[in-house]
Amino acid sequence: MIKLGYDVKNYRQDLLELVESGDTVIELGCHVGGTTRLFPDDCNVVAVDNSPEAIDEMAKLDVSFISGDVRRHEVIAEVFKITQSCDVLAIDLGGGYHPDTVFKVFYIWSSTFKPRHTVIRNRGILEFYNSAVGSDEEIISDEGYLGTYHDSGIPPLIKEFDLWTPKLKK
Ligand SMILES: C[S@@+](CC[C@H](N)C(=O)[O-])C[C@H]1O[C@@H](n2cnc3c(N)ncnc32)[C@H](O)[C@@H]1O
Repeated sequence: MIKLGYDVKNYRQDLLELVESGDTVIELGCHVGGTTRLFPDDCNVVAVDNSPEAIDEMAKLDVSFISGDVRRHEVIAEVFKITQSCDVLAIDLGGGYHPDTVFKVFYIWSSTFKPRHTVIRNRGILEFYNSAVGSDEEIISDEGYLGTYHDSGIPPLIKEFDLWTPKLKK
């Protein structure tokens, strides 16, 4: 399942409904662990955030924490060294964060780790989902990733991030 939300309360509730005892959870944008703390104690949690505030707070929790930018290939590779599987992927880079970047992060991380479920907190993607009307073509995934791209693996170079962020290059 791919679950979308904007309100942080819904994001946390959706995660708690989908995470099962013993699951491996990859959490992108954990900040100081407000959601991380809610996962069952026997989950294997790998959390990533690039905020300096996260470092000391996440060290207090019994999880693997990586201080880094989720858009960077070496950060995905670091997580891949810790775990090659993921039951639930949680993505919250800030509810108002650029939807294009969040979607790209979702696509790359989910096609790499193939989670059973992905929960995304992002207003723009939710607005797009709620506003778009699809054609009758039955293209759908029951998993936490897009089946169309399931064999993509870890991209060797995420060129598009370099092209589009943080600003347009000459
Ligand atoms: C709204 S906070 C997350 C709150 C957290 N999910 C919770 O439930 O308490 C968004 C976090 O995303 C992090 N973030 C934003 N862009 C990021 C990036 N490119 N790489 C890593 N972390 C990022 C920010 O540092 C911030 O801590």
